Amino acid sequence: MALRGFGVDIGGSGIKGAVVNLDEGGLAGERYKVATPQPSTPEAVGKACAEVVAHFGWQGPIGCTFPAVVDHGVARSAANVDKSWIGTNIEDVVAAATGLEVTAVNDADAAGIAEANWGAARGVAGLVVLVTLGTGIGTALVYDGALVPNAELGHIELDGADYEQRASAAARERESLSWEKWARRLQRYFSALEAYLWPSLFVVGGGVSRRAEKFLPLLNLQTPIVPARFQNEAGITGAAYLASRLGPVPLGVTGRQP
Ligand code: BGC
Repeated sequence: MALRGFGVDIGGSGIKGAVVNLDEGGLAGERYKVATPQPSTPEAVGKACAEVVAHFGWQGPIGCTFPAVVDHGVARSAANVDKSWIGTNIEDVVAAATGLEVTAVNDADAAGIAEANWGAARGVAGLVVLVTLGTGIGTALVYDGALVPNAELGHIELDGADYEQRASAAARERESLSWEKWARRLQRYFSALEAYLWPSLFVVGGGVSRRAEKFLPLLNLQTPIVPARFQNEAGITGAAYLASRLGPVPLGVTGRQP
């Protein structure tokens, strides 16, 4: 049987968990999802994580993605979750609720790790910029396979706006934008990233990457741009991998020692 791990994806709207196949990447079975409690305080989110883990009866280390800056296990920002998370140790909160050992990581960074290990960024030399389009915009920088954690390029300011507010998948839904209109905003965004970073490859994740054929062909970039192999499951996959300690854990991600 393939080696298994467990990942939980804490998002602005849902908390999802699944057993992960650590030999090949990707989920080993169905995922289970509960709505993110509102307000999404640490206590309420910890309880929801415990419910997700209990659904599987999982015992063992778990990896947990978080939609904010995660510095040695501690949340340093909170764009799409309750502000009371700022300064809170995510690993301690989820460990107390589940009774399991927890490794917390920024959601986009977790996706970057999964894609670099098994997915669209595998074996790519130079800089890969992974962008998740969801409730917010998450970004991961992977250079020659190594993650540079906590890049917050979803919040770059363009045309006077925090661009996550204009180009996230949530913005498309909120404003009922056609694919073409949304793609114009994405064009602005990816052109800016291209001009600042000159990457070798863009990888696009988040739930909407399932429909990549609707918007990626509308973009005109010098850099190749491809959907994430694991789409919206990349985060769960990468978090489970980090928690398993099968590979090196990038400095600054978790408070737990190897
Ligand atoms: C947060 C990032 C996160 C992204 C996706 C942004 O608002 O600042 O840390 O990765 O949303 O959830």
